[in-house]
Amino acid sequence: MAATRIVEVLPGPGDVHRAAAERFLAAAREALDLRGRFAVALSGGSTPRDLYRRLAEPPYLDRVPWARTYVLFGDERCVPPDDPRSNYRMAMETFLHRVPVPAEQILRVTGEATDPARAAAAYEAELRGLFAAEGTARFDLVLLGVGTDGHTASLFPGSPALGETSRWVAASFVPKLGSWRVTLTLPALNAARRVLFLVTGEQKARVFAEAFGGVPHEPAHPCELVAPTDGLVEVLADRAAASRVPPRADRP
Ligand code: 6PG
Repeated sequence: MAATRIVEVLPGPGDVHRAAAERFLAAAREALDLRGRFAVALSGGSTPRDLYRRLAEPPYLDRVPWARTYVLFGDERCVPPDDPRSNYRMAMETFLHRVPVPAEQILRVTGEATDPARAAAAYEAELRGLFAAEGTARFDLVLLGVGTDGHTASLFPGSPALGETSRWVAASFVPKLGSWRVTLTLPALNAARRVLFLVTGEQKARVFAEAFGGVPHEPAHPCELVAPTDGLVEVLADRAAASRVPPRADRP
């Protein structure tokens, strides 16, 4: 089966975060009903912060099955967990410290490790344990953002990690940042049941128009390569991010 991709443009960032919270809840409830647990991979960066804050407030605080939720990370910066750049720290501060997910069900990447490749291998071992029954990284939900250069998770343009075909987690040096990251790879991301991209703001307008709006470009952006073989990709964007999508000829 091919991935189904749905793009929805909403007025502003608040609308995107409200819709994303509803989709997070829906994915959690469905996963609990069908499989008895909810495995979600969080994205980092700034876009999801407001979504995460919402999840720690009613009605989501009371309705998400937190006790049966497993929290993982789509990528991590190779820094200690208390570093301001840490995606784990951002998630803890915005919602994880306020929702009742059992600590042992929050699986962070050991960004503090001196060897990023070993941190990646260790994380992959945890994932393979969590998904042993499925045999693939069958996340119920993967949250992703998009960088202005089209990267997603820590899969940056030109990264060797983009060519990974079997490992689920890779260490990736990002030249333009001068730093190491640990990231889920396309085999892992494309095993997901559901992927939700959040894209807001004028600064994402060009990459959004190319990646999701049909504007011709070469090569494909890393975010476009996320196409689960048996899953749903949803893209929630605000009007500012979608402002450079050309009108479709078939639209009045
Ligand atoms: C990270 C994220 C990264 C992020 C994009 C968009 O670790 O930074 O995982 O992939 O989603 O860079 O970041 P913003 O949401 O800050 O624009």
